[in-house]
Amino acid sequence: MIPRLLAAPDSGWTAETDVIVIGSGIAGLVTALECRRHGRVMLVTKALLDEGSTRWAQGGIAAALAPDDSPGDHLADTLTAGVGLCDADAVRALVTEGPDAVRRLIALGTSFDRSADGGIALTREGGHHRRRIAHAGGDATGAEISRALLAALKQAGGGVDVIEHALVLDLLRDATGRAAGITLHVMGEGQPEGVGSVRARAVVLATGGLGQVFSATTNPAVSTGDGVALALRAGAAVADLEFVQFHPTVLWLGEGARGRQPLISEAVRGEGAHLVDAAGERFMVGRHELAELAPRDIVAKGIMNRMRETGTSHMFLDGRHLGAAMWEKRFPTILAACRHHGIDPVTRPIPVVPAAHYSSGGVRTDLSGRTSVPGLYACGEVACTGVHGANRLASNSLLEGLVFAERIASAIPADLASVPGDPATPDVPRGLLHPSTRDDVQRIMTSYAGVLRDADGLATAERELHAIRETGEPGVAAWEATNLHTVATAIVAAARRREETRGSHWREDFPELDDTVWRGRLVTRLDEDGLGTTYEPLSEGAA
Ligand code: SIN
Repeated sequence: MIPRLLAAPDSGWTAETDVIVIGSGIAGLVTALECRRHGRVMLVTKALLDEGSTRWAQGGIAAALAPDDSPGDHLADTLTAGVGLCDADAVRALVTEGPDAVRRLIALGTSFDRSADGGIALTREGGHHRRRIAHAGGDATGAEISRALLAALKQAGGGVDVIEHALVLDLLRDATGRAAGITLHVMGEGQPEGVGSVRARAVVLATGGLGQVFSATTNPAVSTGDGVALALRAGAAVADLEFVQFHPTVLWLGEGARGRQPLISEAVRGEGAHLVDAAGERFMVGRHELAELAPRDIVAKGIMNRMRETGTSHMFLDGRHLGAAMWEKRFPTILAACRHHGIDPVTRPIPVVPAAHYSSGGVRTDLSGRTSVPGLYACGEVACTGVHGANRLASNSLLEGLVFAERIASAIPADLASVPGDPATPDVPRGLLHPSTRDDVQRIMTSYAGVLRDADGLATAERELHAIRETGEPGVAAWEATNLHTVATAIVAAARRREETRGSHWREDFPELDDTVWRGRLVTRLDEDGLGTTYEPLSEGAA
């Protein structure tokens, strides 16, 4: 059973604000900074302010900043990567507003790497036909953006109340169904402890990703799909969940490696490194016109295919020819991580394998970040704006968080004019999972719903997820395990239904793309009967 509530809303302490922003990556921080102009903001984050996914982003932020580039070229590459399922209006907003949004990030204090002529140094990544990825600290772009935004938040002084170590549980809704606040579990450190509720006029989910659904991921431990699970419990529409993107190159740490894995940025390939097999052969050449710089679903599939053909557990990224100086200047984080694990990329090819990286789907929104529940917004990886379609173009995610946070901040004043009613009395909480089931969910998803999928495996995943018994007691580990299970069940339902191969959804039993049947979105909702997935065809003009 998928629970409709994690905790009773009337337990514990209460607080009140105007706008609640949940999450402190680029999406959450920009939304909070912008919304403080309109009212009181409470910024809630699960760990410390800088512990979300943003700080781990290596490659950079994509925007048409170069003289030989244009928003139209960026649009074309994004639509190609999304394999027919992008919302063209959302992509247009992203690529046309992106360059100025990046300039505002610079004005706020973000220091991007510069080229010899003083301009912003731009690199390439998979699927981009131009150099349009701005980076910082070589390969520490997310850390620099996070630093600058946190400094701006501190400098802004009042207006944003920050609550760290706080796990959001459920959305409060009034009798009309409008968002009226959240329930929250706060884990001490001078703040009210335990479960309480915060009343607000608007709630913004910026909770990041769901990579922890799988055993090996580039995501931090906090990425447990809390926002998608909360949205489902609140009755919101989620979409495109079958499109989980596997990053082609994470450092291979041996069979059975678990948890967050070291990412080897696509920018390493952008600067000229080659993917090779154990015999040193460049197997992506001839598979795609962009070879190693093909969109990442194609590279991940190329790696998996070559692993199969050669009966090996990993491939190699050969960047020896980049030279020590390039490695030290451009990729200090990756160099340190590889050396920490006993591999020196200056003298040896790096063993690499794909791992879960990014959810292209999420809570369905319009172009202003509004979800299907009035007063509830979603921004960043937790959202499905339609920008990514079936496969996100590399380094579009930081840009999406930035551009759509600004759009949400423009839309929210209308919500502040309305006063939600008292929270309606919901169900009693039930159906919590035991913390140990986190491992079960990860094993099931990795075995049956990972890079390669088929009907039998997905049916097994559905059966085994359904068989997990609800024996959890309220507590952070049980709530997280329950969220992971909810999200995994929704991913499997959508992946089972989509009987074709498209973007990052790879069905071995349906290896072709099928536009005659499947050019549309799978939208999932939770109601009294459980999870239901409906198919919504895209309009003719959509891309
Ligand atoms: C990378 O640096 O390869 C990751 C960039 C991204 O996920 O967009």
